[in-house]
Amino acid sequence: MKDHSDLVLEVKNLKTVFFTNSGLFRAVDDVSFTVSRGETLAIVGESGCGKSVTALSLMRLVPDPPGRIVGGSITLEGTDLLALDEAQMRAVRGNRMSMIFQEPMTSLNPVMRIGDQIAEAVRLHRAMPSREARDIAVEMLRLVRIPEPARRAREYPHQLSGGMRQRAMIAMALACRPALLIADEPTTALDVTIQAQILALILDLQRELGTGLVLITHDLGVVAQTAQRVIVMYAGRKVEEASVETLFAAPKHPYTRGLMASIPTLPASGVPAQARLNEIPGTVPSLVRLPPGCAFAPRCKLAVKRCETEYPPLADWGGGHLAACWRAADVAEVA
Ligand SMILES: Nc1ncnc2c1ncn2[C@@H]1O[C@H](COP(=O)(O)OP(=O)(O)OP(=O)(O)O)[C@@H](O)[C@H]1O
Ligand SMILES: [Mg+2]
Repeated sequence: MKDHSDLVLEVKNLKTVFFTNSGLFRAVDDVSFTVSRGETLAIVGESGCGKSVTALSLMRLVPDPPGRIVGGSITLEGTDLLALDEAQMRAVRGNRMSMIFQEPMTSLNPVMRIGDQIAEAVRLHRAMPSREARDIAVEMLRLVRIPEPARRAREYPHQLSGGMRQRAMIAMALACRPALLIADEPTTALDVTIQAQILALILDLQRELGTGLVLITHDLGVVAQTAQRVIVMYAGRKVEEASVETLFAAPKHPYTRGLMASIPTLPASGVPAQARLNEIPGTVPSLVRLPPGCAFAPRCKLAVKRCETEYPPLADWGGGHLAACWRAADVAEVA
């Protein structure tokens, strides 16, 4: 059982919507999960299923308008983030909770030296002389294994390679030792060899600092190698959650099985390094006009009448394995 004091993040029934001209998009619909100290939770699912909006909701960075969190709670280290005002939230971001993005240039300031940016981020949350903050910046660059950190600290983002920029962004995100790090596709913009290095770095630092990690990725190989638990999202909802071993060995949702169908060998014999999400025939339904039943039913080989009319509740299959599927018991038969 999970020790409650180890809980870093608790998300309950989160709902985030976008008010657009074509209607109300339910981007995140009733999603719950927890992250413990030092734990990695992976979020997987096809494009548009609500992974990034979930991440942005945690940081309270959903663009408003058109977006808004309309329900649920987000509790970070015992603090209800949805009850904070913007000034209080700014004290949390980059301090107790940080986010790294796919494209480092979205978080780095192109006209400011790398070291100064990290130092400024630290001074935003800790009162200290600028000299001391600059020393911390160099220390962080060393921690993310940037060679000659003191020299690199004086350079501008454009003087660094893509991989080095990603390291600098990680250094900045971790400078205040956050309890929670959110990484949204942190390596997809990088080439394959660099991807592996950056991922290994994130995991090393996470272990060293005891940071809870929410890792959003399309790559099931990455999930198998890094996460302890996985949630699978479809059309804004969590449709399955399990430990990584259970999910790969015995997925309960036909959608999860579909995502895995492209992997020739499952983890027992080693997951290939680049196991991308498989193409499942059909497309994700419009989030404006979701069917009354299971949103995956139109694409599901196992769908029966009930699937089209009644949304399946998340059922517990034991050991924290949750799946929202009327046919979950029969899934193994039809692979
Ligand atoms: N600024 C916005 N305005 C309106 N709708 C939006 C906006 N941002 C996101 N959405 C809606 O939220 C849904 C979920 O988007 P999100 O970016 O979370 O998907 P994702 O799972 O991260 O996809 P990807 O794998 O492509 O990154 C989208 O399908 C879209 O309908
Ligand atoms: Mg995304």
